[in-house]
Amino acid sequence: MVDQYEKSAEFIDIMLGPHWSALSSPLAEALRGTPGPIVDVGAGGGHGTRVIAQAVPDADIVAVEPSFALRSVLLARVYEDAGLRDRVTVLPEGFLQAALPDRIGAVVAMNVIGHFPAADRDRIWNMLAMRLLPGGRAVLNLQPPTEPVAVPEFRGADVHIGRRRYEGWGRAEPAGPDRLLWHMMYRTYQDSDMVAELEVSYDWWLLDEKTLEVELHGHGLNLKQTGPAELRMYTIQSRVRG
Ligand SMILES: C[S@@+](CC[C@H](N)C(=O)[O-])C[C@H]1O[C@@H](n2cnc3c(N)ncnc32)[C@H](O)[C@@H]1O
Repeated sequence: MVDQYEKSAEFIDIMLGPHWSALSSPLAEALRGTPGPIVDVGAGGGHGTRVIAQAVPDADIVAVEPSFALRSVLLARVYEDAGLRDRVTVLPEGFLQAALPDRIGAVVAMNVIGHFPAADRDRIWNMLAMRLLPGGRAVLNLQPPTEPVAVPEFRGADVHIGRRRYEGWGRAEPAGPDRLLWHMMYRTYQDSDMVAELEVSYDWWLLDEKTLEVELHGHGLNLKQTGPAELRMYTIQSRVRG
């Protein structure tokens, strides 16, 4: 599969870091009481994996991360923490290709669902319906915009590390009725001088709450909003098994 983060991985983990200040508590709360094992889909560098491990202390975690560079960050983060090292298994395949446990307590898909077109999502919902344990759930977030509209350029990240500063800029244009083409620009500054600039583009499949609800309904799954509304975070549970 294509690694859309091959060139930008260097910036992804540090730029996702600030978002996790807001995501951590609601995710921990959404996972309260869930059984293990827990699958972290597209774990990236492992910000969410760490939250999962703290929220559900006894659960085994399977962190699926197909990007070579992001997986390197993830493995380093897991290795550095003895509490994670014993519990987190890192798999290098895509979510739909990975050998996952037959029964799963929770699936966490933070900042990732836009990588899956509708046909792949259908397979994911089917997997949840078949494999979630009683009391199990999925937790995901939907990222705006959810309509195929142009997004003017904006600065989404500004991270200071030592004497360098890393800016992340994004803009997007519609690439179909349910797809955006995002263009990301990463700029590195040494003091006030720009010393590097990288542009990458990737597809993002659009999904809004209503569409998600309809897709899930066909698989016997319920959608429920969780956490502060502006995070657009949801839990998914079986209608039959709770
Ligand atoms: C924006 S990052 C989010 C990382 C992490 N979940 C977080 O929020 O910090 C999206 C991640 O999804 C991963 N990804 C993309 N396609 C995937 C797939 N088919 N299966 C599993 N992960 C995938 C990428 O490699 C990347 O790590």
